Parts: sequence; structure tokens; C-alpha cells
Amino acid sequence: MSENHVYPIKPEIEKHAYITAEKYDRLYKESIENPDTFWADKAKIIDWIKPFTKVKNVSFHEKDFHIKWFEDGSLNVCYNCVDRHLPKRKDQVAILWEGNNPKDARKITYGELYEEVCLFANALKKLGIKKGDRVTIYLPMIPELTFAILACARIGAIHSVVFAGFSASALASRIDDSESKLVVTTNFGHRGEKEIPLKATVDEALTLTTKQTIEKVLVMGKKATGLDPRDVVFEDLSKDLPKECPCEEMNAEDPLFILYTSGSTGLPKGVMHTSGGYLVYAALTHKYIFDYHEGDIYWCTADIGWVTGHSYIVYGPLANGATTLMFEGIPTYPTPARFWEVIDKYQVNIFYTAPTAIRALMREGDAHVKGTSRKSLRILGSVGEPLNVEAWEWYYHVVGNGQCPIVDTWWQTETGGILMTPLPGAMPLKPGTVAKPFFGIKPALYDDQGHEIQGPGEGSLVLLESWPGQMRGVFNSPGRFFITYFSTFPGVYLTGDGARRDSDGYYSITGRMDDVINVSGHRLGTAEIESALNFHDQVAESAVVGIPDDIKGQGICSFVLLKADQKAHENIAKELIQLVNEHIGPIAKPDKIYIVPGLPKTRSGKIMRRILRNLAAGKIKEVG
Ligand code: WT7
Repeated sequence: MSENHVYPIKPEIEKHAYITAEKYDRLYKESIENPDTFWADKAKIIDWIKPFTKVKNVSFHEKDFHIKWFEDGSLNVCYNCVDRHLPKRKDQVAILWEGNNPKDARKITYGELYEEVCLFANALKKLGIKKGDRVTIYLPMIPELTFAILACARIGAIHSVVFAGFSASALASRIDDSESKLVVTTNFGHRGEKEIPLKATVDEALTLTTKQTIEKVLVMGKKATGLDPRDVVFEDLSKDLPKECPCEEMNAEDPLFILYTSGSTGLPKGVMHTSGGYLVYAALTHKYIFDYHEGDIYWCTADIGWVTGHSYIVYGPLANGATTLMFEGIPTYPTPARFWEVIDKYQVNIFYTAPTAIRALMREGDAHVKGTSRKSLRILGSVGEPLNVEAWEWYYHVVGNGQCPIVDTWWQTETGGILMTPLPGAMPLKPGTVAKPFFGIKPALYDDQGHEIQGPGEGSLVLLESWPGQMRGVFNSPGRFFITYFSTFPGVYLTGDGARRDSDGYYSITGRMDDVINVSGHRLGTAEIESALNFHDQVAESAVVGIPDDIKGQGICSFVLLKADQKAHENIAKELIQLVNEHIGPIAKPDKIYIVPGLPKTRSGKIMRRILRNLAAGKIKEVG
């Protein structure tokens, strides 16, 4: 990264902020030296049924591997996100819903949210869902998605939200792995001009599952025709159910949800988060990093199908009693001014989006932005992939009019919440960096041999200490958690990312060091895409690598080796894309497909991906 401009802390932001520079230094030191005292105090951000007496109980070492926080405390996550706000905020809007079509909008107060969630929880109970049962949720960005999530948390069921862009086959493997009893869906989703059939995809998925654990399909929205006896229409089921439902008392370490994410090998992993530590971490990071204050209108544009939506549309903001905006549509529909118009419409103060959206809108030109006011904005955020300096500057100057600090937040599905970011009232901003660790986070850079790099340098980013929001396991596969994250460098958590640290201790994320690629902030394993390509009857082997892409961050490049004596069908590219669509979904569509006569391999037979990456990026010149 070049020597960039540094933007000093803004006095008006500093005046308002919970965390100033002095406070950051003091609290950070305390959080590292005395995690038990620090977190015992910060855990008061949520309400406990039975207060904990133990705070941190962690070992990252193989002999005695365990991660527990607040282990003898009990709570209910839904109570914290809904019920406890009723005395003060019954009539305050909890969810501002903006539809795909600008004419569609809904406002749901905390009082209404309470009734909707209780009704949903009673519907789940009526379908026989009990504490510990898994519920797969395959819904678009409609308020019912949040009701479903919170209803699960209320009765102690474990939700597994599957992004509604995944294919039937991807949905089926997630249903099987989680052994869900119920799928919640609706007939269609809406994105721009497209109508996406969801119920039909669920029906197809259920023909592909191998375990047959699903007992019922709960269908939200208007009545569907031609329903299977397995289908239950929510409207019918809930007609006579009460709008009150008690909260289940959950231990801090009881699972709250599973969320599947791609790794470098094998099928996506069911990342499991538990109740107490996760909620404390989501709430605290939301409050301090976005400097959330009572009355702020907060908008995170992510889809709830990803962890960003779980932690920073639903759990963090609602635990803090915030007004959280939920947007069904896409940034460019009906025009590329949509984000900025929505900001003006609701007077949004805090706006959190992804680099891919920022770059795509930057390309559309400034006029779409400048036609709106955006005066309400105070803090801007970014997440999901590196925010390059050019896009940072545009976001800062054009979208934020030079008035709003940008929090570039680095974290992962596994981390539950943000781990590195600037705190807007505490740190000068350096474009292209994610600044410093949040409280309790102890990052380090390792070289290939596992030696810690001191001072400025670049290496593999690891975390030396646990934090409350850390994942607790891979669902259904206990050994995989340790092997994936703790076996490369003993005693520390391996993030899989590379990072650089400058002389001020600011970090920049350089990208994944494993076989994971990040396309428009969507995380994909190259092995998954290869496995889809290999289903083609002509394909012997394939190798997928990421290539730089100006908008998406990375694109997907695939090298395909045909079986001996095969000549490629005329339509092979189409057929291969179709296979990826079927097995994963349109988000994993290869940008480039090369049919090659061979793949470069090491003597032990491993594909040399670095060579392919350089070749794909045009870094290797053809000779001869
Ligand atoms: C990977 C995690 C965490 C929410 C969304 C993605 C990359 C994430 C940043 C950032 C550079 C980032 C990393 C990370 N990443 N945020 N601010 N700067 N890279 O969650 O799907 O689990 O992906 O996204 O490579 O490991 P995820």
C-alpha cells in the first residue's frame, strides 16, 4: 500500500463518542491484561437470568482444548432483543423494512415485534419444535426472516439460515448436515426485476436430501396452491395461536445458531455460535464501533443469510434497542441512487455496506449520489473484503461529504463479531487499513515457520487469545474445529488471512492465504467449485483460483482437464456453468473457463495453485 493520507479524529465525533483515544488505550490494556474483570463488567450490556460467576475458561491447546465464556450463567437471547425493551420502547420502531419495490415498506415497533415473535414461537412449538432442534430458514430479506430467527432463540431452537441465493443442492446438503426438522420458506423472493422461486427450490432440495429429517415445511406469505401434505401455511397455523410465549432459559454455552461457511477443503462447515458470549460480543461491538446512541437510525445492507446480517442487522442492534433498517432489494434498483435515497427517506445516521457495492456504485458516477442529501449520515462502515484506497476515498468524500469516519471492519463468520476496525472517536483513519484490534483481541503475525513477527511486517494473521463471540465448534464434526483453526500453529487461532502491520500498529488485510476466494464479499471454497465442475462427464480434473476483479474484488477462474480422448462439447462452458449453478448457486459462476491439456502439480501430486493464480492474473508471459 502506498503512503496514504491520514485523517485525524473529528472533534464533533470525538465529543459524542463512547470511546476516545485515552479510553481505548486504557480499556484495551485492561481487556488484555485482565480479561475476566473486563468482560464481567461488559457482559452487563445484556440481561442475565442467572448471573455467571465464571468469565473466561479457554485453552487452545490440543490436550485440553475448550472454549467457554460465562459458563454458569443463563439468559434468553430473544428476551434481550425484544422483551426487555418493552417498558421503554414499546412504540419505538425496531425494524424499518424497505421493500425491493420502493413503494413497499413496513415499520415494526418493539411492541409489534414482541407479538410477531411470540406468535411465530407458538407456531414452531405447535409443529413440535423443541429446545435444541434445528430449524433451517430459507427466506428472502422480509421481516418474517427476523421473526423466525428470534422465535427460534425464544424457544431454544437452533436456527440455520441458508442464503436464499443458494441452489437446491446446496440447501439440501445444509439441511442434511444440520439434521433440521423444519424448513421455513416463502413462495418467492424479489431482487430488482427478478422473482426468485424459493418454495420450489425447497421442494427440489427435499428430493435431494439423504437423511429425511424434515417433517414439515412452513410457508410464509400468501397461500400457495398445490401444497404438499408436508406443507403448512403459517397464516392457517397461527390463526388461533396466542401472541404471548414464555422465553426458554438457556445456558450461556447453549447453541444459538449454525451458519454454513466455506473453507479450503471439503463441504461448507456449520459454524456454531452459542448464546451468552455471542450476544455480549455482538451488542458491545455494535455499540462502540458504530458509536450507536439512543435514537440513531442504523442501516446494514447485508443479507441476513450471512453472518453480517445475523450480528449487525438482527442480534447486535436489537440487543441495543436500536432501530434497524432491513432492505430487501439491491443497490442498483430501480436506479443506482437507491441506497442514497433510502438514507434520505429514513434519515439514516449509521450506514454499513460492502466494498463490492461501493465500487459498483462508484462506477455509476457521482451524479446519483449528489442528487441526494445524505446529511443525516454520521458514521460509514465497510465489511467483507479489503476496501481499496480509491473506493475508500470515494466513499469518504462523495458519499460522506468528508464528514463521516469510515469504519473498515475486519472479521469472519467464525469470529461472531468485528475484531479489527477503527473506533470512530478514538483513532485517526488510514485508508486501506482496518486500524486496530477491538477490546480483548490479541492479533499477531506469524511467518511460515510459526515465529511471531515483531513490529512492522507482513505474515499470517493469528489470534493469541479467545473473545466471547468466538465460534464454539463445527456442527456435527467436533474434530474439524480444532484441525481447521488450531493445528497449523499450536496454541493460536488461525484466521486464514494474511495481514500487514505498520509502524503505528495499524493492520491491513492482504487477503486469504488458503484456498478460499472472496467474490463480492461472498466466501467460496475453490474445492466446492471444483467438485461441481467435476460432475461433468467429460471432466477428469479441475482447478479453480481467484483472479483480481475491479468490482467484485475477486473473480473465479477455472482450469479444466478433460478425460483422455475427449474433445470438448461445443456447449461445454454453458454446461459447466450450469453445474455450478445447480450445486452451489449463481454466486459461484466462473468468470473464465480454460480447457487445458494438463495441470501443474508438485511431485506429491498437489495442484500448484500459485502458478495458476499468476497465470490467470496474466502475470506469466507465454513463451515460445
Ligand atoms: C473473510 C471472512 C465478516 C463478515 C463478512 C465476511 C474477508 C472480511 C474484511 C475487511 C479485508 C475482509 C477476510 C475474512 N474480510 N472483512 N474489512 N477487509 N478482508 O465473512 O464470509 O466469513 O469471510 O472475509 O478474508 O477472512 P466471511
